[in-house]
Amino acid sequence: MLKKKPSYVMAILGATGAVGKETLEILEERKFPLASLRLFASKRSAGELMTCQGKEWKVEELTPESSFAGVDFALISATDAISREYGQRLGAAGIVVIDDSGVFRMESDVPLVVPEVNVHALSTIRRGIVSIPNCTTTPLVMALKPLQDAAGVKRVVLTTFQSVSGTGAAAMDELISQTKDLMAFRDVKTEVYPYQIAFNLLPHIGSFTEGGDCSEEVKIAGETRKILETPSLRVTATTVRVPVLRCHSEAINVELERPLNANEARAALAAMPGVIVYDDPSRKLYPMPLDATGKDEVYVGRVREDESITNGLNLWVVSDNLRKGAALNAVQIAECLVNV
Ligand SMILES: NC(=O)c1ccc[n+]([C@@H]2O[C@H](COP(=O)([O-])OP(=O)(O)OC[C@H]3O[C@@H](n4cnc5c(N)ncnc54)[C@H](OP(=O)(O)O)[C@@H]3O)[C@@H](O)[C@H]2O)c1
Repeated sequence: MLKKKPSYVMAILGATGAVGKETLEILEERKFPLASLRLFASKRSAGELMTCQGKEWKVEELTPESSFAGVDFALISATDAISREYGQRLGAAGIVVIDDSGVFRMESDVPLVVPEVNVHALSTIRRGIVSIPNCTTTPLVMALKPLQDAAGVKRVVLTTFQSVSGTGAAAMDELISQTKDLMAFRDVKTEVYPYQIAFNLLPHIGSFTEGGDCSEEVKIAGETRKILETPSLRVTATTVRVPVLRCHSEAINVELERPLNANEARAALAAMPGVIVYDDPSRKLYPMPLDATGKDEVYVGRVREDESITNGLNLWVVSDNLRKGAALNAVQIAECLVNV
């Protein structure tokens, strides 16, 4: 659907946000073949200049009248409402939309893609839209895929420890300002989250369902089944917001179909592109958010057998939610589409 060209015109909707800014860095680092960039945000940011690939690009206000003539790709990292309105419209106009929101992920005619895991799904783009998964699902499926191939995954139980950048730029500012206020014995202001996040944990991400699950927990289960193409896989999650600026961590318990010991699991994980096994308890080596910040890879450590179930394994996974969890995955999808 995309004509092969020496370079491409890319629009970024939400260019000034946490994911948008990271996207510009990644396009530059990976030398994506850009003919030009169109950067869109709200009225508040219109006129700002942002740099990418040695040039300055002016941010435009996104309005229903914005013209997208000549645009090849649109990366949408803004709000659900913007994804809903522009995803559909731009996809129908022949632009390849790579969408970061949860709006289209579970639609059967929209591929949900992590290139290392299911690049083949890109051949099924029908509405011009490709979705990228939630920032906790991506590292989860990166770790599960080699275990699935080696021994079949039967059930997954996970707890997440998600950084505030997963909520966006305003939440990062809130954690920093609350921390400063607390250190200065001032009252804290709570705007983004329902409670103080500094020096606290919130077992609540997204909205609550009638059954008491968080929407984030529901997303993780459905998206994991879709990407791994395992509709009957049992997945249950507890999602927790933690006072960390960047990187999501996940404590994952996996029940496998067949035996796989910890060494075999480490070898399978180490052979997975984009995964780094960082696991040596004798030297106190395990992945932490500070190690993974700014890195492209998904880090896996604390790999051990779970004696409480048959064929059980425990893992600890850390990955930068703004990179592999969002911007990097989107740019990798664009790279796959221009290289076909
Ligand atoms: N953060 C993550 O780790 C992550 C991971 C995966 C997916 N996502 C998804 O990516 C999207 C963006 O997340 P983010 O973390 O980058 O959020 P963010 O930091 O809050 O940035 C939001 C962006 O959307 C723009 N925007 C907001 N309202 C707008 C409007 N009415 N018209 C035009 N532009 C508007 C903002 O522009 P202004 O700066 O002008 O307000 C900003 O550029 C969301 O759909 C999120 O679910 C995020």
